Amino acid sequence: MLQHPDHNALVQQLAAIGQGHLFTFYNQLSALEKAELDRQIASMDWPLLAELIRTVVLNPESLKLSENIEPAPFFEHAPHHAATREKYRQAQAMGEFLLKNNRVAAFVVAGGQGSRLGWDGPKGTFPATSVKNKPLFQCFAEFLRAMELRFGCTIPFYLMTSTANHQATVDFWNQHNYFGLPESQVMFFCQDMLPAVSLEGKVLLETPGTLALSPNGHGGSLLALYKSGALADMRKRGITQISYFQVDNPIVRCVDPLFLGLHELENADMSSKILPKISSTEKLGNICLVDGKMTVIEYSDLPAALAEQRTADGQLRFRAGSIALHAIRCDFVQRLNACGFALPYHRAEKKVSCVDMSTGKTVKPEKPNAVKMETFVFDALPLATGSIVYETDRIDEFAPIKNAEGVDSIASSRQITTLRNSRWLQAAGITVPHKPDGSPDCTIEIAASFALYPDDIKAKAAKIPAIKPGDEVYLG
Ligand code: UD1
Repeated sequence: MLQHPDHNALVQQLAAIGQGHLFTFYNQLSALEKAELDRQIASMDWPLLAELIRTVVLNPESLKLSENIEPAPFFEHAPHHAATREKYRQAQAMGEFLLKNNRVAAFVVAGGQGSRLGWDGPKGTFPATSVKNKPLFQCFAEFLRAMELRFGCTIPFYLMTSTANHQATVDFWNQHNYFGLPESQVMFFCQDMLPAVSLEGKVLLETPGTLALSPNGHGGSLLALYKSGALADMRKRGITQISYFQVDNPIVRCVDPLFLGLHELENADMSSKILPKISSTEKLGNICLVDGKMTVIEYSDLPAALAEQRTADGQLRFRAGSIALHAIRCDFVQRLNACGFALPYHRAEKKVSCVDMSTGKTVKPEKPNAVKMETFVFDALPLATGSIVYETDRIDEFAPIKNAEGVDSIASSRQITTLRNSRWLQAAGITVPHKPDGSPDCTIEIAASFALYPDDIKAKAAKIPAIKPGDEVYLG
């Protein structure tokens, strides 16, 4: 049974680090609320928080970029050289070997708050597909099931949530019978939360009896894999490689034999998939070599003088845009944790609803009033002993849903998906109606059970009805 934390000890501990205000409204709380606040406060790592407040909140260092930044080399999507084609053949075989021998786990980070999308629920429950409105989680489950059937293997699926969306996520999977995956193969665990801190360094209350908490960033996944026992569970199952992806992309290849195979053949700890940026300002992290180490420099941090450089053939010199897809060796996650998990914390000034300490009422600020601190998973890249970068095809694999409208929205995601599907059908000799501007004049959804790759369509072409302008087509 959980012991009730010693309230007086907590009062002293917080007073000593200048956070005693968190108990201002304690006497007005019910017994249950008092216990909950004590429990929340006791669960925080206060020495870490005090250090972060001193450094990240009160004395933030401006980002110092090295002088030595070079584009990272990457494996091209369509290799020009016979030697690379041969390497890809070996990599594909290696990736398939890993899958067939049940060495690969899929891992989605779904602890974020999805505030830009304005969806009231875990982002993975968002209806993503254009004909059947399948939620993002279902897209992943169906992809993994189809890969399992293809390769005769088991791909355990780990989902990282946060306390803000954990129960809703688990309930959703339960309600949908795990979308056809065996329940024993789907594991949920929570990442840690951190409180938002005022610009003056005071931890904020969301209500008089609760801290204003938010998830500690997707970098927290590497810590949570370890702390939750998920990594140990992987080891028990014989998993050696983790295929990491974000929750926002319905057409993501949750596991990709070629990418995993290249990563394994090169003995890499952590590898990344990229696509060539369409412009110097596209909001994708830049994969670079900084002092010779693989590093992601966020789009907002790469100096324009570098971002705009062009090669002799006119391409962006720094064009490797991260799509936040990584292959990560289990041993690497183990090692990161064994030697004291130490990814840097990034600072973001945000508007955070919080209690006005003079009235006890929760107020919505008009302008940023708080600092949130997060670690980023890609900050583990420079710590990796080996790391490869592989270029994927934009239309084939990247249709993220991040915003309610415009770029990276549900509308753009559905458009890209139909474009991908129309290409697949056309490659199999099927006629797809087009508008005068060249875009498909129809909506096409293809379930992973129908086709995982364009070649799968050919064998089923006869089953596909003629497509007329304006049709909605579902192939499942
Ligand atoms: C991210 C990357 C960017 C990359 C782009 C590709 C950052 C800072 N930027 O941007 O380099 O080019 O995607 O699409 O990451 N998450 C958690 N817990 C958290 C925070 C986030 O699980 O505490 C998860 C989210 O649920 C989501 C993913 O991490 O699945 C990405 O988070 P988000 O904050 O939306 O990053 P982006 O701005 O989309």
